[in-house]
Amino acid sequence: MSTVGIDLGTTNSEIAWLDGGEPQVLAIGGSALVPSVVSLAGDGRILVGATALNNELLAPGDTVRWIKRRMGTDQVVQFAGKSWTPAMISSLILRHLKEAAEAHLGRPVTRAVVTVPAFFSERAREDTREAARLAGLEVLRLVNEPTAAAAAYARGNRRDEHWLVYDLGGGTFDVSVIATAGEIMEVRASHGDTQLGGHDFDRQLATRAAEDFRARHGIDLAVDPRAWARLIRAAEAAKIRLSRDATATIREEHIANAKGADLHLEYEIRRTEYEAMIAPAIERTIASVRNALAQAGLDARAITRVLMVGGVCRTPLVQNRLREALGLEPQAWINPDTVVAQGAAIEAAAMAGEHIAAAMVDITPHSLGVGALGADAQLRNCILIRRNSPLPCSASEVFYKQFPDQERLEIDVFQGESPSPERNHRVGSFTLDGLGSSETREVHCRFDIDRSGLLQVAVTDLASGVNITRTIERPRPVQRTGMADLGSVRIVDALELGEGDAEAGDWEALRPDPGPSQVDEDEASGEGGDDAALAQQVEDLLARSDLDQSDRDELAARLTSARAGDAAAQARLRDLVYFLQ
Ligand SMILES: Nc1ncnc2c1ncn2[C@@H]1O[C@H](COP(=O)(O)OP(=O)(O)OP(=O)(O)O)[C@@H](O)[C@H]1O
Ligand SMILES: [Mg+2]
Repeated sequence: MSTVGIDLGTTNSEIAWLDGGEPQVLAIGGSALVPSVVSLAGDGRILVGATALNNELLAPGDTVRWIKRRMGTDQVVQFAGKSWTPAMISSLILRHLKEAAEAHLGRPVTRAVVTVPAFFSERAREDTREAARLAGLEVLRLVNEPTAAAAAYARGNRRDEHWLVYDLGGGTFDVSVIATAGEIMEVRASHGDTQLGGHDFDRQLATRAAEDFRARHGIDLAVDPRAWARLIRAAEAAKIRLSRDATATIREEHIANAKGADLHLEYEIRRTEYEAMIAPAIERTIASVRNALAQAGLDARAITRVLMVGGVCRTPLVQNRLREALGLEPQAWINPDTVVAQGAAIEAAAMAGEHIAAAMVDITPHSLGVGALGADAQLRNCILIRRNSPLPCSASEVFYKQFPDQERLEIDVFQGESPSPERNHRVGSFTLDGLGSSETREVHCRFDIDRSGLLQVAVTDLASGVNITRTIERPRPVQRTGMADLGSVRIVDALELGEGDAEAGDWEALRPDPGPSQVDEDEASGEGGDDAALAQQVEDLLARSDLDQSDRDELAARLTSARAGDAAAQARLRDLVYFLQ
């Protein structure tokens, strides 16, 4: 089988295939969970996975983590002395998985089903496909992560039921409501947050421990990249322990130095305190659950199974809140860390023509439309495809040029629910040129969304016959010198590196770290903006009277977190400003 399923996760990625009809998840370096991390070794080699994660403690400034959160944005990452798009960094992870599978199977692996969060935008999906292409993989289909998980659960199912899949991973949250008819599944509605996951809880815990340390010693650990990397790991370990124990202690020795003496960090936290800290985020996930149920037109009582996916679903508070909200015991009898990859493997085999029953009908999570002038001469977002439409789907609409002799037509494509274009996310725009003069002013516009959730737009000017059909392509960052050339990149195999190689090393001999932030925010904003400029944009938006209360609340909350140094909140803030401006 050279067709595989890949779960490209924020924290961990997995690669799997069907062997004798059963999903097999490949263990790489002894573990099926491959850290989604790339790092530059001291000798200039690129490391991926567990060795990269080890190297982070030595070189946090030369390590990139959680890149999935930047997919679909224009942010450029500085790594190994070059500029990289999020798709390029992700392609290193995919290539690592592909090469490990090839070494194991002894044959080329060229085709894959890759999973994405159900709530991923069109642009983030495009980036994922691009990452696979750069890694030398043809994407047979992008499958939504909760749908893939449900496919693993649907094997052998004989009932007609309604399932709710709750997927809380390291970086993203999704919920999907799925109707099953035996092994056939139909997604009815999805909701989620692509900027909410276990990593946010790690940061919250680490921030709390750092505040305590600062109060005791007057030293801010958050500004020291190496100390912060250690603290984040220790916080993650404490978070995991709190799923089992009532208390956990974050203990890091020799984490700072004052007046020639080493300082140690020790911070104890009780589960109740931790739960109070993450409760607002968990409540947001429960609100998403309710939202998805409402969109599916179902009452909580109609749900027959609550399936839990993603590492964070082991958190007792998550399970308690789901039990309370849905009146059912949440289930996770397939490993929640690998169930998405297993489902992707099943779909990959089905697409490769193996005789297995795996039929899934997915949906598009967001509405898509085009900008058009209304009778009142106001620009409107005219929605062609509504969110939660089953995939694949198409829709067409007739528009009219403003003037019979109009030569040129600009078409803007929007993602979002609002009739006001500026309240949506503009996913692309293109121009229809050279239109002839004629009394016929009709322009036909057609949207097709494929099974991967990727959009193709076709526009035809009836008078001249001029038409264009294209996949919406996002503007690529301008090709500059200094942009990484993937053709020259060679990933070091864990085996080549030798036992403990990455961890060894003389601390003193390492060159200084370039700093905690790897993202070039100037390039990211595309307008030379800095943090103050972003804050100003947010303030301007908040001053606007036409802003929805929910947008207003989110902006204010993310601004507070961003000011506290939360990079994820800052990234999300940039997206929000982009959407809302
Ligand atoms: N026992 C546990 N209790 C709480 N959290 C846990 C536990 N085990 C793992 N986690 C957390 O789960 C997260 C990783 O989950 P998972 O591998 O499902 O995410 P991912 O697939 O990488 O991310 P995503 O699906 O969001 O892109 C990490 O934040 C990890 O700390
Ligand atoms: Mg996941």
